[in-house]
Amino acid sequence: MKAENDSKHRAISENVKILDFDAQYADDVLNIQTECGLSIWSKNDYLGELERADSIFKIARTADEKIVGFALARLLIGAGGQNDSAIIAFDSSEILNIAVSNSFQHKGIGQKIFDAILGELRSKNIKEIWLEVRQSNASAINFYRNNSFELQFERKNYYSDPLENACVFQRIINH
Ligand SMILES: CC(C)(COP(=O)(O)OP(=O)(O)OC[C@H]1O[C@@H](n2cnc3c(N)ncnc32)[C@H](O)[C@@H]1OP(=O)(O)O)[C@@H](O)C(=O)NCCC(=O)NCCS
Repeated sequence: MKAENDSKHRAISENVKILDFDAQYADDVLNIQTECGLSIWSKNDYLGELERADSIFKIARTADEKIVGFALARLLIGAGGQNDSAIIAFDSSEILNIAVSNSFQHKGIGQKIFDAILGELRSKNIKEIWLEVRQSNASAINFYRNNSFELQFERKNYYSDPLENACVFQRIINH
């Protein structure tokens, strides 16, 4: 039964395409955000990402065109980066949000979205990824640890409703 489920799951994730975010997907992203209980961004916040040079925003679409996940990363200027009016050299990044619709989780889709983000960060020569996650979010923490993220520090009482610490993770990107 497990082998049967594993191959079914593999078939689902193999048939999922990772695409760049576009305005037509904004409502789907909002629905996934709400379903997964993520911090609230408005539709305009997501649409605003289309105008930003420091945004990497991917969605996952099934073969029957259902949007089942997304991830949004922000390019940052790290300690060694340059920033003047002529040059903006990003060398760091942060994952702001990653989510897969509940009934599509544990099928390899989150991994596929993350791999697409990572590939793009590598191509831009980004050296590290940061993210923060609720201390109680065991499945996301597991996912990040499996993807070579390491806990750096905690932010006490960072989240409200409910009040909770944030765990701040970092992954060094090896080129
Ligand atoms: C974190 C999150 C994005 C991961 O997405 P996902 O699609 O479930 O991730 P994957 O399926 O790629 O991997 C998750 C697990 O499924 C397992 N898995 C992957 N492919 C599988 C397959 N074919 N068959 C069985 N299990 C599989 C992975 O090994 C992994 O196991 P683990 O949880 O024991 O480490 C998802 O849990 C989520 O949306 N959570 C809610 C939103 C959230 O909290 N986001 C983070 C905010 S900081």
